[in-house]
Amino acid sequence: MAKVTLSVIKADIGGFVGHSAVHPEVIEKARGCLEGHPLLIDYRVVHVGDDVNLIMTHNRGRNSGEIHQLAWDTFTACTEVAKKLKLYGAGQDLLSDAFSGNIKGLGPGVAEIEVEERESEPVVVLMADKTEPGAWNLPLYKIFADPFNTIGLVIDPKMHCGFDFEVRDLIENKKVILSCPEDLYDLLVFIGAPGRYAVKRVFHRGTGEIAAASSTQRLNLIAGRYVGKDDPVCIVRCQNGYPSVGEVLEPFAFPHLVSGWMRGSHSGPLMPVAMADARPTRFDGPPRVVALGFQLANGRLVGPHDFFGDPAFDRARKLALTIADYMRRMGPFEPHRLHLDEMEYTTMPQVMEKLKDRFIDLRRDKKPKEKAAGGVA
Ligand code: 13P
Ligand code: 13P
Ligand code: MG
Ligand code: MG
Repeated sequence: MAKVTLSVIKADIGGFVGHSAVHPEVIEKARGCLEGHPLLIDYRVVHVGDDVNLIMTHNRGRNSGEIHQLAWDTFTACTEVAKKLKLYGAGQDLLSDAFSGNIKGLGPGVAEIEVEERESEPVVVLMADKTEPGAWNLPLYKIFADPFNTIGLVIDPKMHCGFDFEVRDLIENKKVILSCPEDLYDLLVFIGAPGRYAVKRVFHRGTGEIAAASSTQRLNLIAGRYVGKDDPVCIVRCQNGYPSVGEVLEPFAFPHLVSGWMRGSHSGPLMPVAMADARPTRFDGPPRVVALGFQLANGRLVGPHDFFGDPAFDRARKLALTIADYMRRMGPFEPHRLHLDEMEYTTMPQVMEKLKDRFIDLRRDKKPKEKAAGGVA
């Protein structure tokens, strides 16, 4: 059987209401564009927060111009609906007027894997809102390199060889492959800085096969201004030489701090939720993650199974809310508000300009000679 490609392509093309969710008419339009399309084997359209996610299977491979065009046209059609309903930020993530062969660099996020389907091919599609691609660094590290999370690394002969991590430098647009366990400490030097370095792909070291792929588009770097957070997606293969489904979900029992949340400029907990609860509210958050499971069957998407609906994640949600309370009380102070270099927008230049004459330079060599008080030397 031909290889199957799973493409998850997402964009925020307008929020309902504000940046909270996606209007049902937009979802309906997207489904209308994909239904019965000759390029696709199967598809699902879902939304996480205000982001529309197109989950598609086909035989065209990764970076297929035709599939990317289909996604682009779908988002463009959805934008028309969003404009008609005056949804918030209609067309937000479509940064170009024209499509030119590949959707990468145009705004939408893309994660794709091409696989020879195994006898059984379970995959988990992770989708987040109100955060950046580096948000996957910590869970991907735990899933593929931490034996305290993934016992399979220790006791499964098919996994004991470890995994290769492809890490992207999102500022300088470079990549490096780091092999775990040997390069584990080096890996952490980079991916511990998720605003700059993000895990793009993970490979099985025994077979060289793809194990995970994420979207690493940084909207503000493409646009040169704030247009919204990237709200990344990630695909993970499971079982039989790969981490089990439970090992993939386990890191999300700990709601780690991610960048995003209000105005893309705050640190907050990543809260695992069921699809129905993927509607950020409080301070436009807290940031959310949904995990949908599918069995691929000759390219058909059997599912989804909505994992974080399970009460086993109730305590993670509760902890996320406790952390949210704690962080919120910091108000405009770091580290709840992001560090100056990481903020998506700021009034600093204007405030600086306004106050420039009130600033007094205290450096010795720049100090204006002070007049002697009362004329006495
Ligand atoms: P497989 O080895 O069949 O993937 O199963 C492992 C498992 O189920 C651990 O949860
Ligand atoms: P999105 O990136 O989800 O559009 O959110 C933007 C924002 O500014 C939320 O406060
Ligand atoms: Mg939005
Ligand atoms: Mg969003």
